[in-house]
Amino acid sequence: MPFKTIIEPFKIKSVEPIHMSTEAERCEYIKEAHYNPFLLHSSQVIIDLLTDSGTSAMSSEQWAGMMRGDESYAGAQSWERLEAEIQDLTGYPYVLPTHQGRAAERILYSYLGGKGKIFISNTHFDTTRANIEFSGATAIDIPCAEARHADSADPFKGNMDIEMLKQTISTYGEENIAAVILTVTNNSGGGQPVSMKNAKAVAAVCHKHNLLFIIDCCRIAENAYFIHHKEPGYDTVSYREIAQEMFALADGCIMSAKKDALVNMGGFLALKDEELATACTNLLIITEGFVTYGGLSGRDMEAIAIGLREVFDPGYLNYRIKSTAYLGEHIRNIGVPLLYPIGGHAVYVDAGALYPHIPSDQYPGQVLVCELYKKGGIRAVEIGSVMFGKYDKHGRLIPAPKELVRLAIPRRVYTQSHIDYVIEVFEELQKNKNNTQGLKITREPKFLRHFTAHFEPYKTEPVLA
Ligand code: F0G
Repeated sequence: MPFKTIIEPFKIKSVEPIHMSTEAERCEYIKEAHYNPFLLHSSQVIIDLLTDSGTSAMSSEQWAGMMRGDESYAGAQSWERLEAEIQDLTGYPYVLPTHQGRAAERILYSYLGGKGKIFISNTHFDTTRANIEFSGATAIDIPCAEARHADSADPFKGNMDIEMLKQTISTYGEENIAAVILTVTNNSGGGQPVSMKNAKAVAAVCHKHNLLFIIDCCRIAENAYFIHHKEPGYDTVSYREIAQEMFALADGCIMSAKKDALVNMGGFLALKDEELATACTNLLIITEGFVTYGGLSGRDMEAIAIGLREVFDPGYLNYRIKSTAYLGEHIRNIGVPLLYPIGGHAVYVDAGALYPHIPSDQYPGQVLVCELYKKGGIRAVEIGSVMFGKYDKHGRLIPAPKELVRLAIPRRVYTQSHIDYVIEVFEELQKNKNNTQGLKITREPKFLRHFTAHFEPYKTEPVLA
């Protein structure tokens, strides 16, 4: 197409008003929220880029499906539709519905895990790691070497390091490896895609050592887009067929439907092996619900079944990936440092490089999320030393490897003018970046402190105002 403008491939049928606050009001709101955007009321936010999870706008077809939802306890038609859709997409015969991704993780990884067991991934997402570690097992991340270079243009920086995979198996012994998990796209690794070549190599190692290979597939349609456009030999293969080829390499998958199934709640576990599926089904019934609904209502299952089809629509995926890149490329062009190439669902800004004068123990990522909020009412999430920092025995901060801020784009929610506004806010922040000052933590919980920690400006005068 000769046109530069990416038009949203949908018309808007229903709107949700945004309350427009002033900068002065927002300075008060963020102070009241102790400089932690997780503690803001969503009504105080203009553009919410906290997550792409559960924040999609559903289509008119999905809403129509909601009305058809069959709420029967057992054998609901909505379940039969969902089961058939997942079987057709993944090729896995056993499907277990759950209320969201982490419920599927808890079922599978608590069954496979336990003390002494090892899980290996390109990068475990936080809830994946938490469920594995809660079982007593160990989670080891082995991202590919290119992932360490923020600016290299390698198209598949979400890959797993295959040599490290072989080494890790030989170090711990194949009998102790509970599963190998490939997260596509690699969320904690910058939303970067995984190539089919890499997935094939992982599968070959798993087959050789008889290891269980699981795909965390919550963004598999976005991943398929990158394979189609960047991996040789895939430009004539459809997005859905690419996903199917990847599923065929593995033994099962876990999906948070809150991402690429274009719904607000839901998830599932799908498996090839009957024995493993039976063991997981026992846990499903105890903690989620009967086998034909798990943690879901009939209407949710209808919406997921429809969303799993819609997400592979070429018009949708083109808009989705290009509009994320549009935000990333524009703020990169005005000198905002970020992880490159731009990932599928989010732009990851390098706040450590943006504010080199703010040390890690004054949390440059948290500073940037507060600045984005005060200047433009934009909410984003820190993925740096607030989220991943630890303390040494002297109480000194051991910083995270990078001080990032994730701008996650909800699916089908914002238009190009919203995104142009975000770009303008970055332009404003750039002008004053050298005068921006740090934050200190005044209160923090023991675990997952980023959700509830309190902060205040590092200096006593109101430097962040
Ligand atoms: N796996 C990946 C790769 C994820 O990104 C998430 C959630 C999960 C599993 C867990 O799924 O939330 O349905 O229980 N990611 C969200 C995010 C929370 O903001 O990236 P869930």
